[in-house]
Amino acid sequence: MADNGHDGAPGALGAVYAAKRPEEVAALYDSWSQTYDADMSAAGYRHPTICLALLARHLPRGASPLLDAGAGTGLIGEWLSITGYPLVEALDISQGMLAQAARKGVYSALHCLALGGPLPFVDGAYAGIVSAGVFTSGHVGVEGLDELIRICRPGGVIVLTVKNTLWDAGFAERIAELEAQGVVTRAEETAPYVSMPGEADTVPSRGLVLRVS
Ligand SMILES: C[S@@+](CC[C@H](N)C(=O)[O-])C[C@H]1O[C@@H](n2cnc3c(N)ncnc32)[C@H](O)[C@@H]1O
Repeated sequence: MADNGHDGAPGALGAVYAAKRPEEVAALYDSWSQTYDADMSAAGYRHPTICLALLARHLPRGASPLLDAGAGTGLIGEWLSITGYPLVEALDISQGMLAQAARKGVYSALHCLALGGPLPFVDGAYAGIVSAGVFTSGHVGVEGLDELIRICRPGGVIVLTVKNTLWDAGFAERIAELEAQGVVTRAEETAPYVSMPGEADTVPSRGLVLRVS
């Protein structure tokens, strides 16, 4: 788990940021799942849009299969199929969120699993991985990165968002280390932006594109 710091987000998201255990996170998202899309829309939630733009810039149309890691209700999955990525699998710790994602009918497989530990996929299983709004307070920390790198095929990309709180608490150093080791190349890094303009005091995040060597 990442840090547990609140960053001013009220309601359901504030509670999730403060969660201390993965089971707690899953339960909170389970109970939020039915109103998540409407709540995030009202907050002007930007991570899926930013991630989609980054993915489309760095991964050719038709690349397959992709993994939406921390897919939630499938906000980005809907757009991936429209923009030319035909086979996308969803992974999330919350069965309730995955049930909402399933209703959209855009994922070829749904995996109820936790990021942050070993994942049951072979090395290089995915041509690309997207993880929007997951590397954030109370969710997944830098410990979740190595497995995503392992299951992404060489030449593939991982598009993720990282909240500043995590970035400043070890994420930046870890990325620099992985680059120095030749494990990944930082293909793109956005300036920090506010992911939910409709929520006061949202701590900024950045979008990151890592190309796996
Ligand atoms: C803010 S939501 C983002 C969902 C989706 N990517 C989006 O942008 O709408 C965070 C998601 O991460 C999931 N999550 C939190 N911790 C997780 C973990 N350890 N492993 C897998 N998923 C996790 C939550 O269940 C939730 O669906």
